[in-house]
Amino acid sequence: MTIGILAALREEAAHLLEDLEPGGRRTQIALRDYTAGTIHGHDCVIVLARVGKVAAATTATALIERFGADRLIFTGVAGGVAPGLRIGDIVIADALVQHDLDARPFFRRHEIPLLGTSHCATDAGLTDRLEAAARAFLDGPMRQRISPEVCERFGLDRPRVHRGLIASGDQFIGSAAGVAALREALPDALAVEMEGAAVAQVCHEYGIPFAVMRTVSDTADDQAHQDFPAFLVEVASHYAHGILQCLFQAGIPPAGAIERHAGTPPDAPGGWTLAT
Ligand code: ADE
Repeated sequence: MTIGILAALREEAAHLLEDLEPGGRRTQIALRDYTAGTIHGHDCVIVLARVGKVAAATTATALIERFGADRLIFTGVAGGVAPGLRIGDIVIADALVQHDLDARPFFRRHEIPLLGTSHCATDAGLTDRLEAAARAFLDGPMRQRISPEVCERFGLDRPRVHRGLIASGDQFIGSAAGVAALREALPDALAVEMEGAAVAQVCHEYGIPFAVMRTVSDTADDQAHQDFPAFLVEVASHYAHGILQCLFQAGIPPAGAIERHAGTPPDAPGGWTLAT
């Protein structure tokens, strides 16, 4: 089993690289450094995915095709969309959708053309483990890694773990109108970011189990940009690193123990007909 880890943040990737046992091998492909090595006995390849759906899809494809990754995990930050989500909460994806994909009138809004679906489900077994790791992190290591002063500055108050739908698109949502439009289009969405659904589509098509975790860095409204860079460095990178440490310490079952979901044959659903 080889686990591909796509980090959205440079600081996150840097922390993870520190955990690699000696002997990691670095390969550069298309402006990205892929580092292969072992963490707690798990073969891993760690890469900074960069920003946006194209960046995420090409990185995921390289992990699968060039490094034989047969599990993918994506970590990063997201804007909270559902009421009640607070900065510092964690969202674990059950499914992902591209909120900016719209090929109407030939396909329904958000439907991935010729794939017959709009939502790509994450792997239930891997997602359960990631959720358990996120809860374990908040129950313990979080307070050791993030000082009370930082918690107070960013208003982190008893952060919670949420599980559900994440929406992705090539857009930073940073206005009340933007978040309202997203809520109207996708009432179930918990959070919004710019990569997860692209990785989800690649994994769906290859039949590769994957999971996505996001730290809520903002609430996608007019204050979304405030302190964003500081939050990435002082909070989000520690969350991602700490949660993956909890995940690796608990162990990830070998291939076959996690149920795979086969990709839908690309030509199974209808073609370019008008959607009803
Ligand atoms: N990632 C973090 N916050 C985001 C937002 N508000 N919109 C899109 N991607 C994000």
